[in-house]
Amino acid sequence: MISRKVNSRTHPQDKDNDLTPTYGARLLNESIPRYELSEHEMLPRIAYSLIHDELMLDGNSRLNLATFVTTWMEPEARQLMMDTFDKNMIDKDEYPQTAEIETRCVNIIARLWHAHEEQDAIGTSTIGSSEAAMLCGMALKWRWRARMKAVGKTTDKPNLVMGINVQVCWEKFTRYWEIEPRYVPVEQGRYHLTAEEVTKYCDENTIGVITVLGSTFDGSYEPIKEISEALDQLQAEKGLDIPIHVDAASGGFVAPFIQPDIEWDFRVHRVVSINASGHKYGLVYPGVGWAVWRDQEALPEELIFKVNYLGGEMPTFTLNFSRPGNQIVAQYYNFLRLGREGYTRIQQACHDTALYLSGAIANMGPFELLSDGSELPVFAWKLKEEANFTLFDMSDRLRYSGWLVPAYTMPKNCEDLVVQRIVVKEGFSRDMADILLRDMHTALQYFASQPEHMKKEEGSHFAHL
Ligand SMILES: Cc1ncc(COP(=O)(O)O)c(C=O)c1O
Repeated sequence: MISRKVNSRTHPQDKDNDLTPTYGARLLNESIPRYELSEHEMLPRIAYSLIHDELMLDGNSRLNLATFVTTWMEPEARQLMMDTFDKNMIDKDEYPQTAEIETRCVNIIARLWHAHEEQDAIGTSTIGSSEAAMLCGMALKWRWRARMKAVGKTTDKPNLVMGINVQVCWEKFTRYWEIEPRYVPVEQGRYHLTAEEVTKYCDENTIGVITVLGSTFDGSYEPIKEISEALDQLQAEKGLDIPIHVDAASGGFVAPFIQPDIEWDFRVHRVVSINASGHKYGLVYPGVGWAVWRDQEALPEELIFKVNYLGGEMPTFTLNFSRPGNQIVAQYYNFLRLGREGYTRIQQACHDTALYLSGAIANMGPFELLSDGSELPVFAWKLKEEANFTLFDMSDRLRYSGWLVPAYTMPKNCEDLVVQRIVVKEGFSRDMADILLRDMHTALQYFASQPEHMKKEEGSHFAHL
């Protein structure tokens, strides 16, 4: 969030600029400035209550069905995270065991994504998938530039091909690194990138194709193997050799466990790099992400920096310098604690709950599913026909009971289509699903009892896309 300075000079008497604590009468008899540093200290207990009480106004994260990000971890994981809040990930020399744990995580993930044993896969932790996307996108750009320079061609017009359903991090990447984004539009009934469309947008300036496992809009998986085959065909016809990056922000920790036969990772020969968010289906609190390259050739040497490590040098590739080490420790906790069996059980449970819930929503009458949660445990639905309420109204009614179930419009070309989406995560039980269904029925009864109900045509801005 970009925050503006609030001008206290224009309203020096304005009490809005002060915090008047709820328990002020007992513990504090002065108000505290809201937008500037207060002159005096206060007791830790008072500072804690002040902030803690204010945060009660936030939504309940366990009822937040909008976010992909982990909202529950075991007490032991929380304890480990607290034990390691003070570790700076970049201090490899001072915290060699944290560095070792990062290396183990990269190895575990690379193998989960079928990195070939004879190839030297390489990877790093990041603050989330967005940072990983920037790093992998840069590697694509650097490699393309080297290829073009080698044959004496200009390098001033790079482009990146992707479905318009990509997450906003890719729009950021192209804007910050001055790359032309080539968005393949979606259309009614087709809400992600397909093999038929992709090659029409590629040329010799294409640094790569971004594919998504699964789409933020509806949880569907893009057909990565088919896209790769279409690019093989393009190479055979026009000699263009275009690499694929997989944005597996969510699917990277789902497909390997519950859809192991889908070939989307390094088994697909055009896939040069993959990112995923440890803090989504990797089941860690925010923020940790991962980026893995197929081999060292996929990550140009010029992008790598060296930091001190046990008297030697450790290669790093990150945008930040300092970064908390505790999320990486928590990721490793999950790997140890759950193993393949535990991850499979949890993702399968989310998947089953998603299918149960989507089936029940489809049976309610007014709704039609766009996806049912059979790929990511995420699904979206629309209104079958005009009604006296919109999905924005439905989202508002559910909020009265604490549920955060966003409604939003689909991307360009389908912007008239309003959908609602649910992300099923660990910690959202079948019981909770039943309570949500009950609250949806109550909302439908309310709309039925209000024939003159004024429809809400747009929602508050929804920022999870
Ligand atoms: C497909 C996809 N890519 C990237 C991101 C950004 O991930 P992060 O929040 O880890 O930066 C998201 C977040 O929802 C996503 O769904």
